[in-house]
Amino acid sequence: MPSSHRSVYRCTECGAEYPKWVGRCEACGAWNTVAEEAVGRSGGRGGRGKKSNQPARAPVRLADVAAEGLRRWQTGLNEFDFVLGGGVVPGSMVIVGGEPGIGKSTLLLQCSARLEQAGVPTLYVSGEESAEQLRLRADRLGGAAGQVRILPEVRVEAIEATAAAAGAQVVVVDSIQTTYTEELEGAPGNVGQVRECAARLMRFAKESGAAVLLVGHVTRGGVIAGPKTLEHIADTVLYFEGETSHDYRVLRAVKNRFGSVDEVGVFEMTGAGLTPVGNPSATFLAGRDATVPGSAVTAVMEGSRPMLVEIQALAVKSGFGTPQRVATGLDSRRLAVLLAVLERRAGLPFHDLDVFVNVTGGMRLVEPASDLGVVAALCSAVHDRPVPPDALFVGEVGLGGEVRPTSGLERRFAEAERLGFRTVFLSARSRVSGQIAATPVAHVADLARRLAA
Ligand code: TYD
Ligand code: MG
Repeated sequence: MPSSHRSVYRCTECGAEYPKWVGRCEACGAWNTVAEEAVGRSGGRGGRGKKSNQPARAPVRLADVAAEGLRRWQTGLNEFDFVLGGGVVPGSMVIVGGEPGIGKSTLLLQCSARLEQAGVPTLYVSGEESAEQLRLRADRLGGAAGQVRILPEVRVEAIEATAAAAGAQVVVVDSIQTTYTEELEGAPGNVGQVRECAARLMRFAKESGAAVLLVGHVTRGGVIAGPKTLEHIADTVLYFEGETSHDYRVLRAVKNRFGSVDEVGVFEMTGAGLTPVGNPSATFLAGRDATVPGSAVTAVMEGSRPMLVEIQALAVKSGFGTPQRVATGLDSRRLAVLLAVLERRAGLPFHDLDVFVNVTGGMRLVEPASDLGVVAALCSAVHDRPVPPDALFVGEVGLGGEVRPTSGLERRFAEAERLGFRTVFLSARSRVSGQIAATPVAHVADLARRLAA
């Protein structure tokens, strides 16, 4: 109702309110953070025509709430279902964030096809691509993708009306940045539009019982343009990550009201869409040549799942000037710290060596537990001697060169055993049990000595 239309402008950083738009928030000093917001409509706070003092529903005791198990629709794309906690939950809203080109549209079109095939009426709304473009993608994917009902549309009101009329149980909206509501004046993609549209779609999901899968682009800076502010609205937030130059993609849950967070699913982008990678460790290690110096394997925990990844290091005499340090798949500052520790505590001469470190498969090392793997690869590269082919390296390295214990060893060991590893280099302070032989190391100098022998 445009006649009752009233807006405020609010800073998305500090929440300060303004009667009209300003370029800089006077309260916190941030630039370009003030966005239009509809009053009394967004986020379910409003009455939507009802007088606010009328009781809408009688309260219910928790014990009287029907405790039937959560229903879920399986897409059959195992890694996707796994990350969601078992499948798509009716009435939920899931955000799938990721950089442009990573494969969000492909993933959701594949999911739509599988859901449609399983008898769940699905609607794929695209504000990004024309029907012809979508058709071309469907042709690449083959199979049931041609059966997906599509709707090129950007107005959220029309999306809701069409989804309701079509009886869609799963509605994909690609993307939140192209969707807009006629009730606000700003252009699609601005923070106010993005938040209002997401809030409306969330309400639509809750009221209609349909699941909404919402695509959100992450810009280079790391925040989804606006939608970082959406994480609190959605039930589930997934990020689709990977190096576009690699074929592997990792789907990660950062918030999940219907499952655990930090679970990941691994996919491979092929010529015909995304294929779940059921056995990531084996895939990541498939191309490894254990006889090459500078290669070491560590076990990282991705949520509840251990994964083995290969770390490769190369050290060569540098020309003049500052030696180069190039890290792919791990933080370059972490690499700098480990090099400094090895130089100072184990006497390895990195100061005049160019160092290149690479994590294979496009995975990123974030856990300190992978330090020992990086250190082993570096020692092996400097000594030009391969590490034992069936050895795994797990442990955090401190600034004193000491090797610290790591949690979750049992699961890491089980995975290593499954893939034929026979010995684990780990902190002398870790307690272990299991089939696999432990080689305790107290200090990086110990490790350097052993690997040189
Ligand atoms: P897309 O799903 O369009 O990414 P997003 O929606 O996240 O922007 O996919 C982008 C890339 O994936 C594109 O460069 C082409 C590639 N691709 C394949 O390699 N195989 C395929 O089967 C498809 C459909 C896409
Ligand atoms: Mg897309």
